[in-house]
Amino acid sequence: MMKSGLEDVIAAETKLSDVDGAAGRLIIRGVSLDDLVATSRFEDVAALLLDGLFDEHIDAASIRKQLGMARAALFAHVETADAALLALPPVDAVRALLARVADGEDFATAIRLMAAPAVFLPAVLRLQKGEAPIRPDASLSQSADILRMLTGRVPTAEQTAGLDAYLVTISDHGLNASTFASRVIASTHAGLTSSVLAAISALKGPLHGGAPGPVLDMLDGVGKPENARAWLSQALDHGERLMGFGHRIYRVRDPRADALKTALKPIFASGQADAGRIALAEAIEAAALALLKERKPDRPLDVNVEYYTALLLDALGFPRNSFTGVFAIGRTVGWIAHAREQTLDGRLIRPQSRYVGPLPNAA
Ligand code: ACO
Repeated sequence: MMKSGLEDVIAAETKLSDVDGAAGRLIIRGVSLDDLVATSRFEDVAALLLDGLFDEHIDAASIRKQLGMARAALFAHVETADAALLALPPVDAVRALLARVADGEDFATAIRLMAAPAVFLPAVLRLQKGEAPIRPDASLSQSADILRMLTGRVPTAEQTAGLDAYLVTISDHGLNASTFASRVIASTHAGLTSSVLAAISALKGPLHGGAPGPVLDMLDGVGKPENARAWLSQALDHGERLMGFGHRIYRVRDPRADALKTALKPIFASGQADAGRIALAEAIEAAALALLKERKPDRPLDVNVEYYTALLLDALGFPRNSFTGVFAIGRTVGWIAHAREQTLDGRLIRPQSRYVGPLPNAA
């Protein structure tokens, strides 16, 4: 029997991450998500994921230094962003600029690919507003520099910590659609740039990484906590899905949702964002969970990573049309790690299909 959507099919062995959908647990290279978010910056999780997958010795300090230098060098590509490229949605514009990174399977290519979306997304967003892009500062951490290139201001400690928590939380997540795409391309030895381009193309779909923008639309549509149930009921009556809820693997709450909810609290508590948004989000979450239980009693549907992502990225100053691009900045390291694991350990991925079309006429 073919499994639609390859549900429950094991298509790879990995030492990178484990998603336990029944327990609501995520492990990244032996470390639980909660511990990782509490102790790591983006550069730490990059070192953790990439360790042993390249010839080079990899540690967080060297990754930070190399990412800084790569960001500075990649800024030259921003000048190639013409009107046609800037008319694209931000994630598509970033993908087009990413295609300028030469393909390769070495660590230098991996570094360039991790640095590229961090430079291109803020630059594209500024150019689309008619503002000059801001040159990278190689001395900063990846998160601090992204926020500085986005807003033109040195971020607060809470903002940098918030973005680090986000990038760490979404760095890797088993064999999701974009990671599978990355591994399929890697299995042909096409190169890391090709893997990342395929992965970002899979990520942008609303059933995968394209949901947090619509989550914010939903929050705005509901407006006040007391409107939540009526607004959501109407959406479900129209056959719509509630964005930020449901997951193929998790049958309980997505552990990343609470990691992000914890990460955003210091930003709201210190008055750097409107605290009323958290109350609104919590009211919508409660109403949505009650309604989904009533309407889909046989399908456990709970909050997923995209829900609090929307609140966090909004509070950090990212426009909602850029959220998928920020997701790509964080997930690129996971895509690269999986691509390398596939290249080092795996064979060409080439499954079979069953033909169910017409047969030629027997003459
Ligand atoms: N709102 C309302 N109903 C839902 C939702 C939702 N968010 N999610 C699933 N359902 C319903 C479906 O309509 C379906 O009902 P039916 O059997 O009566 O037709 C049932 O639950 C099962 O849905 P599937 O699509 O088979 O579940 P699947 O595992 O394929 O989908 C997915 C997972 C795509 C995430 C889905 O829950 C969804 O569309 N959620 C909203 C979009 C979203 O939040 N995407 C981000 C996911 S997180 C990530 O990828 C990073």
